Amino acid sequence: MTESELYSVHKGVFVPTHLHPAESLKYYEDFIFRPDDILIVTYPKSGTIWMQEIVPLVVSEGDLTLVLTVPNWDRVPWLEEHRAILLSLEQRASPRIFATHFHHQMMNPSYFKIEPRVLYVMRNPKDVFISSFHYYGMASFLVNPGTQDEFMEKFLNGNIMFGSWFDHVKGWLNAAEQEHILYISYEEMINDLRASVEKIATFLGKSLSSEVVEKIADHCVFKNMKQNKMSNLSLVPEEFMDQKKSEFLRKGIAGDWKNHFSAAQEERFNAVYDDKMKDVKFKFPWD
Ligand code: A3P
Repeated sequence: MTESELYSVHKGVFVPTHLHPAESLKYYEDFIFRPDDILIVTYPKSGTIWMQEIVPLVVSEGDLTLVLTVPNWDRVPWLEEHRAILLSLEQRASPRIFATHFHHQMMNPSYFKIEPRVLYVMRNPKDVFISSFHYYGMASFLVNPGTQDEFMEKFLNGNIMFGSWFDHVKGWLNAAEQEHILYISYEEMINDLRASVEKIATFLGKSLSSEVVEKIADHCVFKNMKQNKMSNLSLVPEEFMDQKKSEFLRKGIAGDWKNHFSAAQEERFNAVYDDKMKDVKFKFPWD
């Protein structure tokens, strides 16, 4: 199926209609934040479900009950997803934890007024691209990616769900409310998960013992998290996500793009990246 059949355009970007029908987008637009809400913000395939595991464990100080009994989409709901309406989020105790793939400019009026806490996770766009390519091949609510070359043009032009990676990252990096945002990269989490858990805990005002940090990092390491049925999306019906084609927790490494890009694709990607990111001062771990 094509973009016009599977996606709608919300605030200028494609969103998969199946997951984000008009009433859900309206619900999000009217949603009222609290100052102590914790919002995990990502461009898709940058480490969202990883954070949906880590952040509740930081908040619970290492108590595994929630992450072992409640699916990630209910414990840390995406505010733009259809099920958010059904979860009585207004009644949830603080601190509430949410996820969103929205660009900064898509956030609702309450977000800009209340300025809740944000964890913005970034990942090397080449790995985001490869992860997305596999994901689009297994998720029935997304447009089939075609060849890697075809999908690369769509990715670089932002003609995919949630639009351009470049716009997403630049928009959040340029946010005026930066003192409420922790910028963290997938790569630093891969490199030192323990230190990343500590960084997240400090940002959230949690003082965790080294044993608790160790316990959280151990639970959230790829091979262990992959076993958690509440987090590996194995509960999603096969008609929506066919994990026989590609698992959601697929490889979990930094730099997998090197196994997939041709020299020509690397050159093409670099040219667009250098042009679009030329004014960005932020030091990314992959540069
Ligand atoms: P790969 O496809 O490269 O393996 P998102 O949750 O934003 O959709 O991101 C999915 C990507 O994060 C997938 O990347 C997935 O394997 C990776 N991921 C999820 N949990 C992880 C973990 N505990 N450690 C490392 N990577 C993880």
